[in-house]
Amino acid sequence: MSTWVPSRSAPVPRSAEAHVWRLALDQPESESVQQLELLSDDERDRAARLRFEQHRRRFILARAGLRKILGLYLERPARELAFLYGHHGKPRLAPPFSTTGLEFNLSHAQDIALVAVTREAPIGVDIENLDRKVEMEGIARRFYAPEEFAAIQAAPESDRRQAFFNCWTRKEAYLKARGDGITVNLESFAVSVENTDTPSLLRCEINSPEEWSMRSLHPHDHYVAALAIASPACRLQLLQLD
Ligand SMILES: CC(C)(COP(=O)(O)OP(=O)(O)OC[C@H]1O[C@@H](n2cnc3c(N)ncnc32)[C@H](O)[C@@H]1OP(=O)(O)O)[C@@H](O)C(=O)NCCC(=O)NCCS
Repeated sequence: MSTWVPSRSAPVPRSAEAHVWRLALDQPESESVQQLELLSDDERDRAARLRFEQHRRRFILARAGLRKILGLYLERPARELAFLYGHHGKPRLAPPFSTTGLEFNLSHAQDIALVAVTREAPIGVDIENLDRKVEMEGIARRFYAPEEFAAIQAAPESDRRQAFFNCWTRKEAYLKARGDGITVNLESFAVSVENTDTPSLLRCEINSPEEWSMRSLHPHDHYVAALAIASPACRLQLLQLD
């Protein structure tokens, strides 16, 4: 597993540099009740609509964590930040912070959340639990690009689950960087599926794959995660809130 450095301050994000923060969401409900005060009215409404305590707790802690992290970069209290949402729901900073060039994305799976931050480049992150029950072959055959499906099927059976989720998280991170969600045909672009810290966008339909960088992230045993950034180069810093 990689080393995630505890920090109470945000490093200055330089261009072609991404910071990924790991958040633990397995905290007691009392903690999430306390963190609720950092959220905006619409975020609290959203939390209140979540029926299961576990989902509510995770949503609150992830949003509060996102706010605290962005607050460190902007040197503002977490409560003061506001978000606007793209057509497909991607959050971005609202004025007066929208002109700071700070870009971010959030992903959560079970009790871990990741917040990716950079400057002046669309960024996306995705984390999945490797043990998640999915019908892998059917999904890969139906939704992945033909070359991705072929590469997964060619992997030894013991590596196939990892290859499937490598593909999933890399595709999702790229879509989340674009802000498009599942409106995009998943066959219209392809990623590498093998185990590597520097995966690639192999093919895409809107611009050239060389304009993008991808990274594999290792947040915890049994989790797979990926980062995509619209930048030909990307240095990575791994952090966690102290
Ligand atoms: C939001 C979406 C983009 C990702 O959802 P997900 O994987 O279930 O959830 P994640 O935890 O990774 O990401 C959710 C977070 O991304 C952010 N987000 C929401 N919409 C987004 C969008 N269109 N683009 C980028 N980020 C988005 C939000 O911060 C959200 O968390 P929050 O609302 O709790 O703050 C979802 O709409 C989607 O398209 N899922 C596709 C799932 C799929 O079928 N993938 C196939 C394999 S590639």
